[in-house]
Amino acid sequence: MTTTAHLLDSRHEPRYQREAWAPLMISAAEIEAAFRALEAGDPDDRGRREMLIVHPQAPRGVRGLAPATQVSLGVLLPGESTVPIRANTTGLSMCLNGNGTIEIGTRTMTVGFQDVWTKPSMSMEVLSNNGTTAFRYLRYTNAALLEAISSYYEDFGSTVGSEPARSAPDGKRRAKDLAPAVELSDDGSQLLPYEHIIDPDPVTDRPLLFAWDDVSQHLSGVLGLRTGYTGRPLYCLYNPSTGRLNGTTPSFFATITAIGGDFAGGTHRHMSSAINYHFAGNGYSVVEGQRFDWSAGDLMLSAPGWAAHAHTITGAGARILTVQDHPLHTSTGSLVWQEDIDNGEVLALGTQSGFETNLAEYADRS
Ligand SMILES: [Fe+2]
Repeated sequence: MTTTAHLLDSRHEPRYQREAWAPLMISAAEIEAAFRALEAGDPDDRGRREMLIVHPQAPRGVRGLAPATQVSLGVLLPGESTVPIRANTTGLSMCLNGNGTIEIGTRTMTVGFQDVWTKPSMSMEVLSNNGTTAFRYLRYTNAALLEAISSYYEDFGSTVGSEPARSAPDGKRRAKDLAPAVELSDDGSQLLPYEHIIDPDPVTDRPLLFAWDDVSQHLSGVLGLRTGYTGRPLYCLYNPSTGRLNGTTPSFFATITAIGGDFAGGTHRHMSSAINYHFAGNGYSVVEGQRFDWSAGDLMLSAPGWAAHAHTITGAGARILTVQDHPLHTSTGSLVWQEDIDNGEVLALGTQSGFETNLAEYADRS
């Protein structure tokens, strides 16, 4: 079969139109029903019981709640374990019930309620439930992006415990050391030999555990923030291996919003897509003028790419896990952001100097 390219003449073709994804709420009741359905019957051939939550606007063959973000609910019943597998995805999960044992590469982690853990690329992964109640988790990976660009890879590896990053034996020169870059001109342009292409310096991405017992002890710094502060009352669960990307994984940051009372955030927008899991409290989000009231247990695509949005927390406060493909966009230079929706600048964060908050003037922190 011969494949023929389409030739699109810009003089006759319509301009590209980015498709805006609609905000979408998955209620606590829908999530509970999905878990109950997963807990019935047998696991799949990989020992998993997982339900993908797919946005109706996801392209054919792509299973994402946001364009780059695959979200699933998973459960293991007592005594169950998954088949060892490795994939070129990166991701993070939060435990919603019970306890699990997570083996990723050479690390074994025991996780409990509201703990968050990360999964690096190409590390062997086994999830087990050694407890007496259902182990439920909420999982985010960049599989949706990889499916969209036909780049998802998985295999069954050899053994659990293999390290994802290799390094040259001590004292051994790498071929790239014999192949220096060639400087071209004063603007910084260079020529790189092939040896560099196939041996980039690895950055080891170890699985991380953000135990709720630890995280929750450090939230006092944001719990006292109130309306008037122009930032957001949150901490990023930072993975230092992501460096300047400020990520929890190379694709996503996960933040914990923690507020002890009313808080109204400003209306803004960004090309990154944000998904909020509200695990305590109440509030509402206004997305492109549409109001969504939420409470504990509700999951929401709360900020589709470039949708104007604002979140308001009411009453006794809230706790929110936000997963956003911010690092992915930072790495590609595509993270356009408008902090002030009315007349603020549009900046490419990570490429241009970014925004500041009024933290210095905010005098009501407690
Ligand atoms: Fe936002």
